[in-house]
Amino acid sequence: MNKNKILVIDDEKSMLEFLSAMLTKDGFSVAVSDTGQEGVNMFKKTHFDLVITDIKMPEISGIDVLKSIRSYDTNAVVLMITAYASVDTAIEAMKLGAFDYITKPFEIENIRVIIRKALQQRELLDENINLKEQLKSEYDFKNIIGNSTPIKDVFDKVRKISRTDATVLLYGETGTGKELFARAIHHNSPRKSEPFISIDCGALTETLLESELFGHVKGAFTGAIEHKKGLFEAADGGTIFLDEVGVASPQIQTKLLRVLQEHEIKQVGGNKSIKVDVRIIAATNTDLEQQIKDGKFREDLFYRLSVIPIVLPPLRERIDDIPLLVSHFLKKYTRKAGSKIKKMSPEVMQILMKYNWPGNIRELENVVERAVVLEEGDTIAIENLPDKLREQEIEIDEKRFIAEGLKNTVEQTERNIILKAFEECAENQYQTAKKLKVSRQNLQYKLKKYRIIE
Ligand SMILES: Nc1ncnc2c1ncn2[C@@H]1O[C@H](COP(=O)(O)OP(=O)(O)OP(=O)(O)O)[C@@H](O)[C@H]1O
Ligand SMILES: [Mg+2]
Repeated sequence: MNKNKILVIDDEKSMLEFLSAMLTKDGFSVAVSDTGQEGVNMFKKTHFDLVITDIKMPEISGIDVLKSIRSYDTNAVVLMITAYASVDTAIEAMKLGAFDYITKPFEIENIRVIIRKALQQRELLDENINLKEQLKSEYDFKNIIGNSTPIKDVFDKVRKISRTDATVLLYGETGTGKELFARAIHHNSPRKSEPFISIDCGALTETLLESELFGHVKGAFTGAIEHKKGLFEAADGGTIFLDEVGVASPQIQTKLLRVLQEHEIKQVGGNKSIKVDVRIIAATNTDLEQQIKDGKFREDLFYRLSVIPIVLPPLRERIDDIPLLVSHFLKKYTRKAGSKIKKMSPEVMQILMKYNWPGNIRELENVVERAVVLEEGDTIAIENLPDKLREQEIEIDEKRFIAEGLKNTVEQTERNIILKAFEECAENQYQTAKKLKVSRQNLQYKLKKYRIIE
């Protein structure tokens, strides 16, 4: 374990010696300073988990030390020491962000308890900071997994366009990562500290979607009892992600075209034009060009949106990525469950590589999460896969055995079924026979025939 580092600042030498000896004995790494100025300098040079400072010191007081340290690092944990007479100053210190104060003379046990609490606070703060860092990097390209040629082409393109303001149209089946890429583009763009707002054009009725996107004035329609800003205004300076743009109604399409051309919107029921500076990323899993032919999508809007079209390949066209994705999700979900890292059995991996993944990466992620939860051991077995994937296993087996003739096929399949049931029943013959709905004698005969038992 790392030793916690504590800095003690006090002009009284005997106090420094006393605290230093006590803290060292308690297993901390201790540094001391007998002036406020030197203490602050030391703090700026080295990381300390906790600072303990006397309040009353000549020249630079403990309050000034507290101020300098906290303005240098707003998360610094500082503990004040004060003589009984100056509790008022101690309270002032608390207001300035000191963790707590101790009055002299103090009991050793007391100060130990306070130090422990202060260090716990420090740990919590550190955890919080880590969490924030994690959130920040969640949309980092590093967290988008893929090494296959089709996805690498996507990465190249996306990296380049992130830095620009270009409108992007993402094509891809469900679960291929459209939203993930949209967020990554935003978080790697100069707009990253401005809002990213995602809206599913298919999830709302036309009227609602229109007022969500553009806002409305009071009394624009029944129920519009108050003036409301729309998402385009809320996303000003940032990025808006229009999911399922293919299902937007003609009226919405017209309004979107206006945003793209004029960079302005009109609220529903209003007549004032409002300028907005919003980058648009749109996504669809329908064929917009076909929709144009069918007269369902405006061609001019299509060209405005697809300045940069990006096609996200379905998972079945990039099966090389499956092992990488599996190990990424295994890590993610074992960490979440707090369990030991698990691996896939080779048979499971084989099934995962052969399945056609209509729900793409989302489906794979769900399968891995489920298996991690169900599997108690450290190797994920076929039993932990959903039926859909296990049925596929039997189909594969059938294909393999048909080549070997009917008799062999039937026998092999029968052997597999019996073996599986036998294992599932912990090799209890009575239970297995019951499960397979055969007599005990019959089961025993077959167990021997297939050399499952001696
Ligand atoms: N390359 C990848 N690496 C890691 N995780 C991924 C990758 N692609 C997608 N995912 C994960 O798969 C899930 C589905 O992705 P996302 O929601 O972006 O898909 P989508 O294309 O928007 O799907 P839908 O059309 O159904 O809305 C998310 O949990 C996402 O984090
Ligand atoms: Mg989506």
